[in-house]
Amino acid sequence: MTENTRTAIVTGGSRGIGRAVATRLAADGLAVVVGYAGNRADAESAVTEIEAAGGTATAVQADVADEHAVAALFDAADALGGGVDVVVHAAGRMVLSPIADLDLDDLDALHRTNIRGTFVVARQAARRLRDDGSVVTFSTSVVATQFPTYGAYAASKGATEAITLILARELRGRRITVNCVAPGPTATEMFLDGKSDELVADLAQQNPLERLGTPSDIAEVAAFLASPAGHWVNGQVLRANGGMA
Ligand SMILES: NC(=O)c1ccc[n+]([C@@H]2O[C@H](COP(=O)([O-])OP(=O)(O)OC[C@H]3O[C@@H](n4cnc5c(N)ncnc54)[C@H](OP(=O)(O)O)[C@@H]3O)[C@@H](O)[C@H]2O)c1
Repeated sequence: MTENTRTAIVTGGSRGIGRAVATRLAADGLAVVVGYAGNRADAESAVTEIEAAGGTATAVQADVADEHAVAALFDAADALGGGVDVVVHAAGRMVLSPIADLDLDDLDALHRTNIRGTFVVARQAARRLRDDGSVVTFSTSVVATQFPTYGAYAASKGATEAITLILARELRGRRITVNCVAPGPTATEMFLDGKSDELVADLAQQNPLERLGTPSDIAEVAAFLASPAGHWVNGQVLRANGGMA
């Protein structure tokens, strides 16, 4: 790798949408740091997949809410390519519960990952991204559809949207874009776990394209926003959901 190698950090890069983003950015020629929480085998298999396709990647464990661990993620990107050009913050968790029954310990744990984690990653990105870089965060279309039981999760993603949009304005003068992708139902463990086949089929019909999103559908959107071709899109929330309301 050289000083000129463009380098990306993908939090949540071990599985689901983040893994598809990591693979896609590597195919675009970026060296990729695959961040993960605890699932080392999946993170290493993402790196193996990228390397088998001719790309460069390394896996680094980092709880996104831990500022020291996230700083180490950025250090790993520095070591790989001499700096950081793209941060895709896909790490996240989901808790579903009617608000009336919500366990407040679950709420705190969820918001530690989804809200504090977004702040910690955004703070390092603001301090350490090279000029002309890009940040992509992840919200959810549920912020707009307001499905019951998604209260705690949607609240955390509303916060993610706010952090993203304000960071875009704070980075004035450095030609860094900051955008948020808000997927609809997408076929990953987060979405599929605990849902009946009937419920999954019903949710897949909510958009006029009549299917679930795939991790690759969403990775294409994130890769566009992180690429020079997407650089005129800044400070936006892009609802990538096949046309669901
Ligand atoms: N799937 C959907 O339908 C959907 C819809 C809208 C928005 N989203 C958003 O899209 C993003 C990706 O979701 P997904 O469906 O791909 O999820 P997923 O398949 O459940 O994968 C979650 C990823 O986040 C990592 N992670 C979780 N907690 C973490 C923490 N505290 N620190 C660092 N990494 C952590 C996991 O690492 P380990 O492998 O180590 O556990 C894993 O790589 C999330 O922000 C999610 O909220 C998803």
